[in-house]
Amino acid sequence: MRRFSSAFEEEKDSGKVLDSKLMKRLFTYLAPYKVYFIISFFILIIIAFFAISIPYITKYAIDEYINPSLKILSVENNPELKEHFTKRYKKFVVSQQDSKVLIHSYNIDKLLPKHYQMLLTNGCISKDIYAAYPINNKNTPIAESNPAYLKPFGKYYIIPQKNLSELSIDDTKILRSRDISGLKTLAIIFFVFLVLRFIFSYVQIYLTQYGAMHSMYDLRMKLFKHLQKLPMSFFDKNPIGRLVTRVTNDVNALSEMLGEGLITLVQDIFMMLAILIVMFIINWKLAFITFVVLPFVIFFMLKFKVDIRKVYRLVRIRLAKINTSLSENISGIQTIQLFHQEKKKQNEFESVTQDYFEAERKQLRIFAVFRPLIDVMVHLAIALIIWYGGGSILQDKMSLGVLVVFISYVHRFFDPLYDLSQKYNVMQSAMAALERIFKLMDEKEEHYSTLPQYPKRLQGEIEFKNVWMAYKNEDWILKDINLKITKGEKVALVGSTGGGKTTLVKLVSSFYPFQKGNILIDGKSIKNYNLEELRYNIGVVHQDVFIFSGKIRDNISLFRQDISEEQIIQAAKYANADRFISKLPKGYDADAKERGSVLSAGQRQLLAFARVLVGDPSVFVLDEATSNIDTETEMLIQDALHKIMENRTSVIIAHRLSTIQNVDRIVVIHKGRIAEEGSHQELIKHRGIYYKLYELQYKGMER
Ligand SMILES: Nc1ncnc2c1ncn2[C@@H]1O[C@H](COP(=O)(O)OP(=O)(O)OP(=O)(O)O)[C@@H](O)[C@H]1O
Ligand SMILES: [Mg+2]
Repeated sequence: MRRFSSAFEEEKDSGKVLDSKLMKRLFTYLAPYKVYFIISFFILIIIAFFAISIPYITKYAIDEYINPSLKILSVENNPELKEHFTKRYKKFVVSQQDSKVLIHSYNIDKLLPKHYQMLLTNGCISKDIYAAYPINNKNTPIAESNPAYLKPFGKYYIIPQKNLSELSIDDTKILRSRDISGLKTLAIIFFVFLVLRFIFSYVQIYLTQYGAMHSMYDLRMKLFKHLQKLPMSFFDKNPIGRLVTRVTNDVNALSEMLGEGLITLVQDIFMMLAILIVMFIINWKLAFITFVVLPFVIFFMLKFKVDIRKVYRLVRIRLAKINTSLSENISGIQTIQLFHQEKKKQNEFESVTQDYFEAERKQLRIFAVFRPLIDVMVHLAIALIIWYGGGSILQDKMSLGVLVVFISYVHRFFDPLYDLSQKYNVMQSAMAALERIFKLMDEKEEHYSTLPQYPKRLQGEIEFKNVWMAYKNEDWILKDINLKITKGEKVALVGSTGGGKTTLVKLVSSFYPFQKGNILIDGKSIKNYNLEELRYNIGVVHQDVFIFSGKIRDNISLFRQDISEEQIIQAAKYANADRFISKLPKGYDADAKERGSVLSAGQRQLLAFARVLVGDPSVFVLDEATSNIDTETEMLIQDALHKIMENRTSVIIAHRLSTIQNVDRIVVIHKGRIAEEGSHQELIKHRGIYYKLYELQYKGMER
C-alpha cells in the first residue's frame, strides 16, 4: 500500500505570475476551443460599450434636459474669434444671432486657452446661464406673455436658467415638453442598455467558462491516460496523494485562473483603457487631474506585489505542512491510538497550525490594508474631480453632467483593483499548478501500445540469463540470476524477507527494467515483446490482492466484455471461490468494494485465483501472502492452486510449507542471489539455508 503522507510536501513554485513558456503550453489545450474565446472577446467589446454608455446617459440627461446651461458669447469686437466660430468652433454653436453665439457651457472648456482668455478679458461671456427652446406655435404664446424672460435668439427662445422657476406650471409643461420627453426616452434607453448588458454578459461568461471547462476536461483526461502508462518506478517515487492532487486540485486551480483570473484580467484591462480614453475625450484636463493619483496606485501595487508573493508562498508551505501532518495522523490513527500518542500528536499538530495561523495573519495584514488603500485613492481622485471640476462649473467652463459622469467612471475604473491581491493569488497558484502539471506530463511513458486483437498464447518458457537489477544506481537487489523454467514446470521461490523474490517475478512482467543480462520468454527477450502481449500471458496474484470498486463478477472478469457469465462462475468454482461468493447476499452481483474490506485475506486470494483462471495465461505467478490463513481456507487454497498450476508454467513465491508440496523444483533466493536449488529432499539433505528455514517453520508449526 502506498503512503498518503508527504503527498503535499512538494510545494515549490517559480513565483512567477505569468510564465510565458507555461502559458504557451497551456494555450495548446485552449486552442481547440478558441472559437468560444474569440466570440467572447467580441462580446466583451460590446459590453464595454454598454458599461461606458450607461453613465454617459446620466450626463446627457443632466446637461441637455435637467440642467441645460448655455452661454451667450459676444464676438462682434473680435474678428479673429468671429472667424473661428464660423469654422473651427462651428460644431459647438447651438444658435447664432448677429455676432453672438449660443454654446453649451461644457464646450467652453474645449476652446483653445488663448481664445478662452480673449473672451474672458473682453467680458464677452454672458453672466447668465440660459435654457433654449425652439420657436414654434406652441412656445410663441408663452414667449409673448413672458417677454421679460423669454427672448428670441436665432431659431430659439432663450430664458435665463434662474427665471425658469418663475413660469407658471402649465407654461413650464409646454415649454419644457422637449426636456420631459427627452428624459423619458433616456430612461428607456438606460433600461434597454441595462438589459442588453445583462444578456451579453451572460453569454460572455457562459462561453468563456464553457471553453475553459472543456479544455480542463481534456487536460484531466490526458493526465489520466498519461498516468496509466507511467512505469512502476514513477509510482514508487510519487505518493498517491500527490498524484490525486495533480489531477484534481491543480487542474481546478487552472480552471479558476481561466475563469476568474485570466479572462477577467483581459476584461478589466480592456475596460480600464476604454474608460481612460473616454474620460480624456470628455474633458482631458479634468481626466489629467483625476489620474494624478494613478502613479501612487501603481507604486503601492508594485510594493504589495513583492509582499504578497512572499507571504503567499509562506502560507502555501505551511498549509502543505498541515496537510502532511493531517494525512499522516489519519492514516496512522491505529498505531497512534494503540500507543497512546494522542496528546503528543495534538501538540505537534497545534504547532503546525499555529505556524499556519501566523502566516495567514501576515497575509491578512496585507489584504486588509490593500482594499482600504485603493478606496482612499478612489476618493482622493473624486476629491480632485470635485475640487477642479466644481471650480470649473463655478467658472461656467464645465457642466454638472461632466462632474457626475467622471465620478461614476472613476469608480468603474478602480473597481478591478479592489480584489487585485486575490486575483494575484489565483494567478500565482495557477502558475505553480501549471508547472507541476507539465512536469508530470513530461514524465516518460512506458513503451506501450495496444494490440488490435487479443494476443496469442505463448508457450511459457522462462529464462533468466545473468540478470542484474537495481532499483537505484548500483544498489544491486538481484545479482547474476541464472534460472531456466521450462514449459509447464512448477518452481517455488523461497528465502528470507527482502531477498528479492518479489523483485524477481516483477521483472518477468516487465514492471521494472533490469540493468544487465537478459530475460527470455519462449526464447525471445521480454524487451522485444509488446507489453500487452507479455502481461496478457502472465497471470499474477500479488501479496495484497487489489479489489476494484464494482461487482464481484467484474472483479473476476476484470471488466472484460468477452467473458461470459458461465466462464466467471466456472472459474470461481474451480478456484473454490464460489462457496463464499454464493453466500454473499447478492452473490456475484454483490458490491465488491463495500464487501471488499470484509473479504478476508484468504477469500481475496481465492478471488484472485479465479481472475487468473478466467484469463487462462500460460504463466502463473503467485506472490503468496504471509498472513496466517485458517486451515479450512488453506485447504481450499492448496486445492485451487493445484488446479491452476496444471498445464501452466508456474512460479510460486512460497511462505508456507504446504504450498511447496506440489512443485517440481525449489529455488532459494538469498540476498539477491540464487543460493540453492533442487527438490525438497535434496535441499533438506544439503542442510543449507532451506534446511534452516524449514526447521524454523517446522518448529513453529509444532507449537
Ligand atoms: N519499489 C522499490 N523501490 C526500491 N527498492 C525496493 C522496491 N521494492 C523492493 N525494494 C527493495 O528490494 C529488496 C528486495 O525486495 P523484495 O520485495 O523483492 O523482497 P522479497 O524477497 O519479496 O521479500 P518478502 O519475502 O518480504 O516479500 C528490499 O531490500 C527492498 O527494500
Ligand atoms: Mg515479497
